[in-house]
Amino acid sequence: MKKTRIGILTGGGDCAGLNSAVKWVVKTALDSRLEKERGIEYEILGIRDGYQGLVLPVPEIIEECQHLCYLDEELVRTWDRHGGTSLGSSRTNPYDPKNDRSKTVLENIESLELNALIAIGGDDTLGVAGKLAEEGINVVGIPKTIDKDIPETDYTLGFETALNVITEEADKLRTYAGSHKVVFVIETMGRHAGWLALEGGESAGAFIILIPEYDFSMDRVNELVIEGVKAGNRYNIIMVAEGASPSGQSTFTQEKEVDAFGNAYLGGIGNYVAHEIEKGTGLTTRSMALGYLQRGGQPCAYDRRMGRYFGIAAVDLIVRGDFGKMVCYKNGKIDSVPIKDVAGKTKLVDVTTDYDSERLNGRRSILNI
Ligand code: F6P
Repeated sequence: MKKTRIGILTGGGDCAGLNSAVKWVVKTALDSRLEKERGIEYEILGIRDGYQGLVLPVPEIIEECQHLCYLDEELVRTWDRHGGTSLGSSRTNPYDPKNDRSKTVLENIESLELNALIAIGGDDTLGVAGKLAEEGINVVGIPKTIDKDIPETDYTLGFETALNVITEEADKLRTYAGSHKVVFVIETMGRHAGWLALEGGESAGAFIILIPEYDFSMDRVNELVIEGVKAGNRYNIIMVAEGASPSGQSTFTQEKEVDAFGNAYLGGIGNYVAHEIEKGTGLTTRSMALGYLQRGGQPCAYDRRMGRYFGIAAVDLIVRGDFGKMVCYKNGKIDSVPIKDVAGKTKLVDVTTDYDSERLNGRRSILNI
Protein backbone atom coordinates (compact mmCIF):
# COMPACT_ATOMS: atom_id res chain seq x y z
CA MET A 1 0.00 0.00 0.00
CA LYS A 2 1.31 3.49 -0.87
CA LYS A 3 1.97 5.42 2.30
CA THR A 4 0.22 8.72 3.04
CA ARG A 5 2.86 11.33 3.76
CA ILE A 6 2.56 13.90 6.55
CA GLY A 7 5.05 16.76 6.79
CA ILE A 8 5.84 18.34 10.15
CA LEU A 9 7.72 21.52 11.06
CA THR A 10 8.39 23.74 14.06
CA GLY A 11 8.54 27.51 13.35
CA GLY A 12 9.32 30.70 15.28
CA GLY A 13 11.08 30.89 18.66
CA ASP A 14 12.11 27.56 20.16
CA CYS A 15 10.65 26.46 23.50
CA ALA A 16 10.08 23.41 25.66
CA GLY A 17 7.43 20.88 24.59
CA LEU A 18 8.03 21.02 20.84
CA ASN A 19 9.93 17.73 20.78
CA SER A 20 7.22 16.01 22.78
CA ALA A 21 4.60 17.10 20.24
CA VAL A 22 6.73 15.81 17.35
CA LYS A 23 7.37 12.51 19.12
CA TRP A 24 3.65 11.91 19.73
CA VAL A 25 2.70 12.84 16.18
CA VAL A 26 5.16 10.20 14.98
CA LYS A 27 4.14 7.55 17.50
CA THR A 28 0.40 8.05 16.85
CA ALA A 29 0.67 8.20 13.07
CA LEU A 30 2.93 5.13 12.87
CA ASP A 31 1.17 3.06 15.56
CA SER A 32 0.74 -0.40 13.98
CA ARG A 33 -2.49 -1.20 15.85
CA LEU A 34 -4.09 2.08 14.79
CA GLU A 35 -2.78 1.60 11.24
CA LYS A 36 -4.89 -1.58 10.95
CA GLU A 37 -8.00 0.14 12.37
CA ARG A 38 -7.65 3.11 10.02
CA GLY A 39 -6.60 1.14 6.96
CA ILE A 40 -4.11 3.93 6.22
CA GLU A 41 -0.33 3.72 6.47
CA TYR A 42 1.33 7.05 7.25
CA GLU A 43 4.93 8.17 6.94
CA ILE A 44 6.26 11.30 8.59
CA LEU A 45 8.60 13.71 6.89
CA GLY A 46 10.39 16.12 9.22
CA ILE A 47 10.96 19.55 7.66
CA ARG A 48 13.95 21.28 9.18
CA ASP A 49 14.18 24.90 10.34
CA GLY A 50 10.51 25.82 10.03
CA TYR A 51 9.32 27.07 6.64
CA GLN A 52 12.97 27.38 5.57
CA GLY A 53 12.89 23.62 4.87
CA LEU A 54 10.01 24.17 2.47
CA VAL A 55 11.56 26.96 0.42
CA LEU A 56 14.73 24.99 -0.37
CA PRO A 57 14.77 22.82 -3.54
CA VAL A 58 13.25 19.34 -3.27
CA PRO A 59 16.07 16.79 -3.71
CA GLU A 60 15.95 13.61 -5.81
CA ILE A 61 16.78 11.52 -2.75
CA ILE A 62 15.35 12.81 0.53
CA GLU A 63 17.84 10.86 2.68
CA GLU A 64 20.70 12.73 1.05
CA CYS A 65 19.55 16.25 1.89
CA GLN A 66 20.00 18.30 5.06
CA HIS A 67 16.60 19.99 5.24
CA LEU A 68 14.25 16.99 5.17
CA CYS A 69 14.31 13.74 7.12
CA TYR A 70 12.04 10.78 7.69
CA LEU A 71 11.01 10.39 11.34
CA ASP A 72 10.35 7.01 12.89
CA GLU A 73 9.52 5.81 16.38
CA GLU A 74 13.07 4.76 17.20
CA LEU A 75 14.50 8.14 16.18
CA VAL A 76 12.06 10.20 18.28
CA ARG A 77 11.89 7.79 21.26
CA THR A 78 13.79 10.08 23.66
CA TRP A 79 12.89 13.47 22.16
CA ASP A 80 10.17 14.37 24.68
CA ARG A 81 12.70 14.93 27.45
CA HIS A 82 14.76 17.47 25.47
CA GLY A 83 14.14 21.23 25.27
CA GLY A 84 14.20 23.28 22.07
CA THR A 85 13.37 21.60 18.80
CA SER A 86 15.34 18.74 17.28
CA LEU A 87 13.85 19.66 13.89
CA GLY A 88 15.32 23.16 14.16
CA SER A 89 13.41 26.39 13.71
CA SER A 90 13.60 29.74 11.95
CA ARG A 91 11.54 32.87 11.50
CA THR A 92 11.29 32.31 7.72
CA ASN A 93 8.14 33.93 6.34
CA PRO A 94 7.25 32.54 2.89
CA TYR A 95 4.73 35.40 2.50
CA ASP A 96 7.25 38.14 3.37
CA PRO A 97 6.19 40.95 0.99
CA LYS A 98 9.88 41.83 0.48
CA ASN A 99 10.71 38.24 -0.51
CA ASP A 100 7.56 36.26 -1.33
CA ARG A 101 8.42 32.58 -1.68
CA SER A 102 4.92 31.21 -1.12
CA LYS A 103 4.72 29.85 -4.70
CA THR A 104 7.89 27.81 -4.08
CA VAL A 105 6.42 26.44 -0.86
CA LEU A 106 3.21 25.37 -2.64
CA GLU A 107 5.20 23.73 -5.44
CA ASN A 108 7.45 21.94 -2.96
CA ILE A 109 4.50 20.65 -0.94
CA GLU A 110 3.14 19.22 -4.19
CA SER A 111 6.39 17.63 -5.36
CA LEU A 112 6.98 16.18 -1.89
CA GLU A 113 3.48 14.68 -2.13
CA LEU A 114 2.57 15.91 1.33
CA ASN A 115 -0.97 14.82 2.04
CA ALA A 116 -0.99 16.93 5.20
CA LEU A 117 1.25 19.45 6.94
CA ILE A 118 1.49 19.88 10.71
CA ALA A 119 2.79 23.34 11.65
CA ILE A 120 3.80 23.77 15.28
CA GLY A 121 4.22 27.42 16.15
CA GLY A 122 3.00 30.72 17.44
CA ASP A 123 1.00 33.45 15.74
CA ASP A 124 3.46 33.92 12.84
CA THR A 125 3.84 30.22 12.00
CA LEU A 126 0.11 29.63 12.39
CA GLY A 127 -0.60 32.73 10.27
CA VAL A 128 1.38 31.16 7.41
CA ALA A 129 -0.42 27.84 8.04
CA GLY A 130 -3.75 29.69 7.71
CA LYS A 131 -2.69 31.16 4.36
CA LEU A 132 -1.55 27.75 3.12
CA ALA A 133 -4.94 26.33 4.18
CA GLU A 134 -6.65 29.02 2.08
CA GLU A 135 -4.54 27.85 -0.87
CA GLY A 136 -5.95 24.34 -0.42
CA ILE A 137 -3.15 22.70 1.61
CA ASN A 138 -4.28 20.20 4.27
CA VAL A 139 -2.89 21.98 7.29
CA VAL A 140 -3.15 21.22 11.02
CA GLY A 141 -1.68 23.59 13.64
CA ILE A 142 -0.30 23.01 17.14
CA PRO A 143 0.01 26.11 19.39
CA LYS A 144 3.34 26.84 21.05
CA THR A 145 4.87 29.98 22.49
CA ILE A 146 6.18 30.97 25.89
CA ASP A 147 4.07 34.14 25.42
CA LYS A 148 0.74 32.20 25.77
CA ASP A 149 -0.86 34.86 23.57
CA ILE A 150 -2.68 32.66 21.02
CA PRO A 151 -6.47 33.08 21.16
CA GLU A 152 -8.91 30.16 21.48
CA THR A 153 -6.59 28.06 23.62
CA ASP A 154 -5.90 28.14 27.35
CA TYR A 155 -2.44 26.68 26.79
CA THR A 156 0.48 27.04 24.40
CA LEU A 157 3.48 24.69 24.60
CA GLY A 158 6.49 26.10 26.42
CA PHE A 159 4.64 28.41 28.80
CA GLU A 160 4.83 26.35 32.01
CA THR A 161 8.51 25.54 31.54
CA ALA A 162 9.21 29.25 31.01
CA LEU A 163 7.29 30.07 34.22
CA ASN A 164 9.44 27.54 36.07
CA VAL A 165 12.59 29.23 34.75
CA ILE A 166 11.32 32.67 35.82
CA THR A 167 10.47 31.37 39.31
CA GLU A 168 13.83 29.63 39.75
CA GLU A 169 15.82 32.64 38.50
CA ALA A 170 13.83 35.00 40.74
CA ASP A 171 14.66 32.76 43.72
CA LYS A 172 18.35 32.97 42.84
CA LEU A 173 18.28 36.76 42.44
CA ARG A 174 16.38 37.02 45.72
CA THR A 175 19.39 35.78 47.69
CA TYR A 176 21.52 38.66 46.38
CA ALA A 177 18.70 41.21 46.75
CA GLY A 178 17.98 40.07 50.32
CA SER A 179 21.61 39.94 51.41
CA HIS A 180 22.41 43.40 50.02
CA LYS A 181 19.08 45.21 50.56
CA VAL A 182 18.49 45.74 46.87
CA VAL A 183 15.38 46.36 44.76
CA PHE A 184 15.65 43.89 41.89
CA VAL A 185 13.84 44.40 38.58
CA ILE A 186 13.46 41.27 36.45
CA GLU A 187 12.47 41.71 32.80
CA THR A 188 10.58 38.86 31.17
CA MET A 189 9.77 38.17 27.50
CA GLY A 190 6.19 37.88 26.24
CA ARG A 191 5.99 40.47 23.45
CA HIS A 192 2.77 42.51 23.79
CA ALA A 193 1.08 40.11 26.22
CA GLY A 194 1.67 40.14 29.97
CA TRP A 195 1.06 36.45 30.76
CA LEU A 196 4.70 35.55 31.41
CA ALA A 197 5.34 38.53 33.69
CA LEU A 198 1.99 38.22 35.45
CA GLU A 199 2.01 34.48 36.12
CA GLY A 200 5.81 34.43 36.54
CA GLY A 201 5.50 37.29 39.04
CA GLU A 202 2.66 35.54 40.85
CA SER A 203 4.68 32.30 41.04
CA ALA A 204 7.78 34.13 42.25
CA GLY A 205 5.86 36.32 44.72
CA ALA A 206 6.95 39.58 43.06
CA PHE A 207 6.14 42.78 44.95
CA ILE A 208 5.16 44.65 41.77
CA ILE A 209 4.22 43.23 38.35
CA LEU A 210 4.17 45.48 35.28
CA ILE A 211 2.42 44.28 32.13
CA PRO A 212 1.88 45.69 28.62
CA GLU A 213 -1.89 45.71 29.05
CA TYR A 214 -1.67 48.41 31.77
CA ASP A 215 0.42 51.54 31.22
CA PHE A 216 1.92 52.27 34.62
CA SER A 217 3.02 55.43 36.35
CA MET A 218 6.62 55.52 37.59
CA ASP A 219 5.48 57.67 40.53
CA ARG A 220 3.07 54.93 41.62
CA VAL A 221 5.83 52.31 41.34
CA ASN A 222 8.11 54.41 43.54
CA GLU A 223 5.31 55.07 46.02
CA LEU A 224 4.70 51.31 46.38
CA VAL A 225 8.42 50.61 46.76
CA ILE A 226 8.68 53.18 49.58
CA GLU A 227 5.55 51.72 51.21
CA GLY A 228 7.22 48.29 51.05
CA VAL A 229 10.36 49.60 52.75
CA LYS A 230 8.28 51.28 55.47
CA ALA A 231 6.42 47.99 55.99
CA GLY A 232 9.80 46.35 56.67
CA ASN A 233 10.64 44.77 53.29
CA ARG A 234 14.39 44.32 53.17
CA TYR A 235 14.27 43.89 49.41
CA ASN A 236 11.68 43.77 46.65
CA ILE A 237 11.39 41.83 43.42
CA ILE A 238 9.72 43.70 40.57
CA MET A 239 8.68 41.73 37.49
CA VAL A 240 8.31 43.70 34.27
CA ALA A 241 7.21 42.41 30.87
CA GLU A 242 9.40 43.45 27.93
CA GLY A 243 6.31 45.00 26.29
CA ALA A 244 5.26 47.08 29.33
CA SER A 245 5.66 50.85 29.24
CA PRO A 246 4.97 53.87 31.44
CA SER A 247 1.91 55.85 30.32
CA GLY A 248 2.69 58.28 27.55
CA GLN A 249 5.80 56.37 26.42
CA SER A 250 6.16 53.89 23.61
CA THR A 251 7.38 50.30 23.98
CA PHE A 252 11.12 49.88 24.54
CA THR A 253 12.95 48.22 21.64
CA GLN A 254 16.49 46.88 21.36
CA GLU A 255 17.21 47.40 17.70
CA LYS A 256 15.63 49.32 14.86
CA GLU A 257 15.12 46.35 12.51
CA VAL A 258 12.09 44.08 12.60
CA ASP A 259 12.02 40.35 11.79
CA ALA A 260 10.55 38.78 8.61
CA PHE A 261 7.08 38.97 10.17
CA GLY A 262 7.47 42.64 11.09
CA ASN A 263 7.98 42.01 14.84
CA ALA A 264 10.14 44.53 16.67
CA TYR A 265 12.83 43.21 19.06
CA LEU A 266 11.58 44.37 22.45
CA GLY A 267 13.72 44.98 25.53
CA GLY A 268 15.21 47.62 27.81
CA ILE A 269 12.23 48.46 30.04
CA GLY A 270 13.81 46.60 33.00
CA ASN A 271 16.86 48.87 32.96
CA TYR A 272 14.69 51.95 32.64
CA VAL A 273 12.47 51.00 35.60
CA ALA A 274 15.52 50.19 37.76
CA HIS A 275 17.13 53.51 36.92
CA GLU A 276 13.93 55.43 37.68
CA ILE A 277 13.43 53.64 41.03
CA GLU A 278 16.98 54.40 42.12
CA LYS A 279 16.56 58.04 41.04
CA GLY A 280 13.12 58.42 42.65
CA THR A 281 13.67 56.56 45.95
CA GLY A 282 17.43 56.58 46.54
CA LEU A 283 17.34 52.79 47.01
CA THR A 284 19.99 50.61 45.39
CA THR A 285 18.29 49.00 42.41
CA ARG A 286 19.52 46.44 39.90
CA SER A 287 17.93 44.81 36.88
CA MET A 288 18.32 41.79 34.68
CA ALA A 289 16.54 40.60 31.55
CA LEU A 290 16.03 36.82 31.66
CA GLY A 291 15.97 36.69 27.84
CA TYR A 292 16.44 33.35 26.12
CA LEU A 293 16.87 31.48 29.43
CA GLN A 294 13.05 31.48 29.49
CA ARG A 295 12.89 29.41 26.32
CA GLY A 296 15.56 26.95 27.44
CA GLY A 297 15.99 23.92 29.64
CA GLN A 298 14.30 20.58 29.88
CA PRO A 299 10.52 20.59 29.45
CA CYS A 300 8.57 20.39 32.70
CA ALA A 301 6.10 17.51 33.15
CA TYR A 302 3.18 19.68 31.99
CA ASP A 303 4.83 20.57 28.67
CA ARG A 304 5.71 16.93 28.06
CA ARG A 305 2.10 15.89 28.65
CA MET A 306 0.54 18.75 26.69
CA GLY A 307 2.97 18.11 23.81
CA ARG A 308 1.83 14.51 23.88
CA TYR A 309 -1.89 15.36 23.87
CA PHE A 310 -1.54 18.05 21.17
CA GLY A 311 0.53 15.69 19.00
CA ILE A 312 -2.02 12.88 19.28
CA ALA A 313 -4.93 15.27 18.61
CA ALA A 314 -3.18 16.65 15.50
CA VAL A 315 -3.03 13.14 14.03
CA ASP A 316 -6.68 12.56 15.00
CA LEU A 317 -7.61 15.62 12.90
CA ILE A 318 -5.64 14.29 9.94
CA VAL A 319 -7.29 10.87 10.22
CA ARG A 320 -10.70 12.57 10.23
CA GLY A 321 -9.70 14.78 7.29
CA ASP A 322 -10.55 17.80 9.44
CA PHE A 323 -8.07 20.32 8.05
CA GLY A 324 -7.47 24.04 8.54
CA LYS A 325 -7.72 23.47 12.30
CA MET A 326 -5.46 24.14 15.29
CA VAL A 327 -5.58 21.78 18.25
CA CYS A 328 -6.27 23.62 21.48
CA TYR A 329 -6.89 23.24 25.21
CA LYS A 330 -10.13 24.84 26.35
CA ASN A 331 -12.05 24.52 29.60
CA GLY A 332 -10.00 21.50 30.64
CA LYS A 333 -10.38 19.61 27.34
CA ILE A 334 -8.27 19.07 24.25
CA ASP A 335 -10.26 20.33 21.27
CA SER A 336 -9.71 22.09 17.93
CA VAL A 337 -10.58 25.47 16.37
CA PRO A 338 -10.34 26.86 12.83
CA ILE A 339 -6.90 28.42 12.26
CA LYS A 340 -8.62 31.42 10.66
CA ASP A 341 -10.20 32.25 14.04
CA VAL A 342 -6.74 32.48 15.59
CA ALA A 343 -4.36 33.87 12.96
CA GLY A 344 -3.42 37.51 13.29
CA LYS A 345 -5.02 37.87 16.74
CA THR A 346 -3.38 38.18 20.16
CA LYS A 347 -4.80 37.02 23.48
CA LEU A 348 -4.05 39.65 26.12
CA VAL A 349 -4.46 39.79 29.89
CA ASP A 350 -7.85 41.24 30.87
CA VAL A 351 -6.84 43.90 33.39
CA THR A 352 -10.39 44.20 34.72
CA THR A 353 -10.45 40.57 35.88
CA ASP A 354 -6.84 39.35 36.06
CA TYR A 355 -4.86 42.34 37.32
CA ASP A 356 -4.90 44.69 40.29
CA SER A 357 -4.06 48.08 38.76
CA GLU A 358 -4.01 49.74 42.21
CA ARG A 359 -1.30 47.50 43.65
CA LEU A 360 0.28 46.82 40.22
CA ASN A 361 0.13 43.11 40.91
CA GLY A 362 -1.95 39.98 40.45
CA ARG A 363 -5.59 40.05 41.54
CA ARG A 364 -6.50 39.70 45.21
CA SER A 365 -10.09 38.61 44.62
CA ILE A 366 -10.54 35.55 42.49
CA LEU A 367 -14.19 34.77 43.10
CA ASN A 368 -15.14 38.45 42.74
CA ILE A 369 -16.31 38.81 46.32
O1 F6P B 1 7.54 34.85 20.91
C1 F6P B 1 8.50 34.27 21.73
C2 F6P B 1 9.58 35.27 22.06
O2 F6P B 1 10.51 34.65 22.92
C3 F6P B 1 9.09 36.59 22.65
O3 F6P B 1 8.75 36.49 24.00
C4 F6P B 1 10.27 37.48 22.36
O4 F6P B 1 9.91 38.85 22.32
C5 F6P B 1 10.70 37.00 20.99
O5 F6P B 1 10.26 35.66 20.88
C6 F6P B 1 12.18 37.07 20.74
O6 F6P B 1 12.37 36.88 19.39
P1 F6P B 1 13.72 36.28 18.76
O7 F6P B 1 13.73 34.82 19.07
O8 F6P B 1 13.55 36.51 17.28
O9 F6P B 1 14.85 37.03 19.36
